Amino acid sequence: MGKKVIITGVPGVGKTTVVNEALKKLKAEGIEYQSINFGTFMFDVAKAEGVVKDRDQMRTLDRQVQKRLQQHAAQAVAKIQGNVLIDTHASVKTPKGYLAGLPEWVLREIMPDTIVLVETDDDQILMRRLTDETRSRDKEGSRAIAEHQQFNRAIAASYAMLTGCTIKIIVNADFLLDRGAEDMAAVLR
Ligand code: AP5
Repeated sequence: MGKKVIITGVPGVGKTTVVNEALKKLKAEGIEYQSINFGTFMFDVAKAEGVVKDRDQMRTLDRQVQKRLQQHAAQAVAKIQGNVLIDTHASVKTPKGYLAGLPEWVLREIMPDTIVLVETDDDQILMRRLTDETRSRDKEGSRAIAEHQQFNRAIAASYAMLTGCTIKIIVNADFLLDRGAEDMAAVLR
C-alpha cells in the first residue's frame, strides 16, 4: 500500500515549486512518488468537451459542471497505485463563492493519509501572482488572499474529520524555498 498525500494552497503560493524540490530530494534517497495534478485531470475532460480553452477558466464554470469534473478526476486518481502526491486545492474561489476542492465524494475515492496546506504571507503571494506571466491569475488584494488562506484552514479541518487524515501546514516563504521543500520531504518520507 502506497501513501496518498494531497497538496493544497491558494493559487500562486508556490505549491508546485515546493513539491518539485521535495521530489528531487526524495529521488536522491530512492523514494519515488507519482505526482498528479488534479486540475490537469479536470482540464483534459473540460477541454475535450469544449467548455474551456485554458485551465484558469475552469473556476468560472457552472458549479454542477465543476463538480462533475471533480468526480471524473477523483475516480481516475483513485486507480493509481503506489505512493501518490496529488496537487490540488482545498477550496476554489468561484464567482459565486468558495467551492470545496475535496468534497465528500472526492475524499471517499482518494482517502488521503495527509493533506498539506502550503502557505505564506499574503503580500508575497500577491507579488508572485503579479509577476507570473504564464497564467491568468485572479486580480485580488492581500485581504482577499488572507481570507482564502483562512478559509482553507477551516475547510481542511472538516476534511480531517471526514477521513481521519492528518493536516500539515508548510510555509513557502520568499528566499526560504529549501526549508519548505525539506518540510514537504519529511511529510512524504
Ligand atoms: P492548478 O493548476 O493546481 O492551479 P494553481 O493553483 O494556479 O496552481 P499552480 O500550480 O499554478 O500554482 P502554485 O501555487 O503551485 O504556484 P507555482 O509553483 O507555479 O489548478 C488549475 C485549476 O484547476 C484551478 O484553478 C481549478 O479551477 C481547478 N481545480 C484544481 N483542483 C480542483 C479541485 N479539487 N476542485 C475543483 N477545481 C479544481 O508558483 C507560483 C510562482 O511563485 C512562480 O512564479 C514561482 O517561481 C514563485 N515561487 C514559488 N515559490 C517561491 C518562493 N519560495 N520564493 C519566491 N517565489 C516563489
